[in-house]
Amino acid sequence: MWRAEVFTLFPDMFPGPLGGSLAGEALQRGLWQLAAHDIRDQGIGRHRAVDDTPTGGGPGMVMRADVLAASLDAVLQKDDSRPRLVMSPRGRPLTQARVRGLADSGGVIIVCGRFEGIDERVIAARGLEEVSIGDYVLSGGELAAMVLIDACVRLLPGVMGKEASGTDESFENGLLEYPHYTKPRAFEGREIPAVLLSGDHAKIEAWRRAEALRITQERRPELLAKAVDEEAKKR
Ligand code: ADE
Repeated sequence: MWRAEVFTLFPDMFPGPLGGSLAGEALQRGLWQLAAHDIRDQGIGRHRAVDDTPTGGGPGMVMRADVLAASLDAVLQKDDSRPRLVMSPRGRPLTQARVRGLADSGGVIIVCGRFEGIDERVIAARGLEEVSIGDYVLSGGELAAMVLIDACVRLLPGVMGKEASGTDESFENGLLEYPHYTKPRAFEGREIPAVLLSGDHAKIEAWRRAEALRITQERRPELLAKAVDEEAKKR
């Protein structure tokens, strides 16, 4: 079963929002598992220290390599082949393609950073891969880990039902999604586009495709360029 193993200084933050809504329901139904491990359990001395000042000087504190390694080693089997991720604004940006890959693996191991950073040596020594959820800085990796887990869980078999098939969904075809409408037909003087009421499915399909292209061009031109490239490669 797909299982997320989270290493954090704030295990009480979990499941947090993952305990509600779609992911929470699936967790209750036993479709996936979540464990949050307190890195401080392996902390050093009476105060269970997990961090120290940056060697070479500078602001903030750095998570110790020995403490984090001990925390991982205390929980994980040597042959655990799940991807080992560290949430960090310095990481490779998370994409829907990566999320699909992670949902297809046996689960994920996620280290949540706090402080200024994590001693580089434990990242190398335990084969951790840094992943970012966007170009902004959170106060820790916990929320980022939840974002990643939520994105994976909704793709697991049985979690979403029919909607999950959604190849129309944003990013699934490299484009942002087309606009949606429902009743009433007129809202504050704004009408639903006539084509959607025509019953002509080919026309509707074409309109949606054109709208997806227009919106992607407007908001994310770099995505459109990539989608066009991929299409060309397929041919
Ligand atoms: N930790 C702090 N900021 C982050 C970000 N943008 N992505 C992932 N982890 C983070």
